[in-house]
Amino acid sequence: MHMKPFDFLVIGSGIAGLNAALGLAKLGTVALITKKDILESNTNKAQGGIAAVLSQHDSFDSHIADTLRVGDGLCDKTAVEFLVTHAPEKIQKLIDLGVAFTTRNGVIELSREAGHSTNRIVHAKDATGAEVERAMVAQAKNNLHITLFEHHFAVDIILEKGKAGGALVIDTKNNEILSFLSKAVVLATGGAGQLYQYTTNPKIATGDGMAMAYRAGAILEDLEFVQFHPTAFAGKNGLFLISETVRGEGGILIGADKKPFMHNYHPSKDLAPRDIVSRAVFAEQKKGQVVLDITHKSADFIMQRFPMIYATLKGEGIDMTKQPIPITPSAHYFCGGIKTDLHGRTNIPCLYACGECTCTGVHGANRLASNSLLESVVFSDAVVEDCKAYSSQSVQKNPLHALTLTSSKSDGLLSSFQQIIWKNVGIVRTEYELQQALIYFKEVEENINLLFKEGINESLMELKNMVTLGTLLAQAALTREESRGCHFRSDFPEKKEAWERHIKQKK
Ligand code: FAD
Ligand code: SIN
Repeated sequence: MHMKPFDFLVIGSGIAGLNAALGLAKLGTVALITKKDILESNTNKAQGGIAAVLSQHDSFDSHIADTLRVGDGLCDKTAVEFLVTHAPEKIQKLIDLGVAFTTRNGVIELSREAGHSTNRIVHAKDATGAEVERAMVAQAKNNLHITLFEHHFAVDIILEKGKAGGALVIDTKNNEILSFLSKAVVLATGGAGQLYQYTTNPKIATGDGMAMAYRAGAILEDLEFVQFHPTAFAGKNGLFLISETVRGEGGILIGADKKPFMHNYHPSKDLAPRDIVSRAVFAEQKKGQVVLDITHKSADFIMQRFPMIYATLKGEGIDMTKQPIPITPSAHYFCGGIKTDLHGRTNIPCLYACGECTCTGVHGANRLASNSLLESVVFSDAVVEDCKAYSSQSVQKNPLHALTLTSSKSDGLLSSFQQIIWKNVGIVRTEYELQQALIYFKEVEENINLLFKEGINESLMELKNMVTLGTLLAQAALTREESRGCHFRSDFPEKKEAWERHIKQKK
């Protein structure tokens, strides 16, 4: 088996992985591995922007209060303060890296998203993530201390004497198993929207890092809090997100009776927290198609502010300047994940995590819009800071493993798993449905174990990871007998006082 020693191993090439790699490259050699092309990430799809207090009419207290309110009692206040107070300097850092944010008269333009009490979303028109990736990938490719490995799929963390010391990886182009050895491992593998039949997430989002960390003994937290985005458009190539900033700029949700309905659900109407809007759309869909209408704005404004969304919809035969957009809710963001502290440390020595695969405590029961790109930058920088301590350590020995590769496929199992989890562990949950899902997941797991007897490959590992995570998610959702944030139990529709008290005691 080939061995590749580096000072640091970073898994994932979204904003968290790229930012970590760029920082770690100042401390030593870095292997940056990613399972597809470098641009394949949730980051590259991000639309709305990055939340940061930049206006004189805004304040840290207000951003903190909005984050805590949307997090519905479960945020870690210290982590939220850490996130919010570092935001302005991180925006400057991104600009210094070459990210071109949209400006007006030389000043960064700030837009609005749900749950924010003021305009504080820094953006690059409606394709913020693609602009961030472009700039960061250019930097990483030019950095002599970073070696990039595309089409390399991380299977498992290598542990020696309880410490992380690398990862077993499939080179999927050459069909080879490699071991990457390092002083510290950084998981930046993103979210897991692909668990669900309907999602805004690209194909890479299969929760590999979370499942890998769990197998290695890391603590996972808050998995029941899956955020569903209310407005996705079902297009020819799957679901396509219609950014919340469309509602931030005045877009209105319209029900089957051709009338706005959000005033029936929340005083903030179309800009209510995302979980409330998603459940409202889900309920209204039972009466017929829900649409998002921004045709009252001028065509020039719409095309200028939302060029990517406009062009994509045009390609689907919808002119958003003239007609409302049919929308549906879909799985969007994992609020929970690998538990880390403010330095991005997990409970396993030398194993770090940052970005969407983590639970840092900043999101609680529901994420405030545009806080996740921010979280990824703030916490990947914290990882780099902590890794300064590793300069004097040595890389461990090459471990033995007994993995073989197979070409077996499991597409049928995957699509039925995605359908069941959407139906039973989705926007609205009940004890019965969750239990039925768990019975089914066990069957799928037994089938996977049979396939694993022949060997492993990328798609089988992804399915195994998704079923592991789906099972943990359903168990967490079953245990939480209350409705809070984006976890809604129709058999326990209220928040439990006991939880409120528990949280107050923790603070
Ligand atoms: P990602 O960007 O998803 O990167 C994960 C990387 O890990 C990928 O390169 C992937 O290939 C790699 N990887 C995964 N598993 C493996 C493996 N086993 N081996 C090797 N590599 C692996 N958030 C905001 O704050 N503002 C927004 O406006 C916004 N808009 C969004 C719009 C859409 C459509 C979506 C889907 C999300 C949006 N989000 C937004 C959320 C945000 O984009 C993500 O939370 C954030 O980009 C996560 O960054 P990350 O670096 O943690 O993960
Ligand atoms: C959006 O643009 O609606 C997505 C924003 C986010 O997920 O934070």
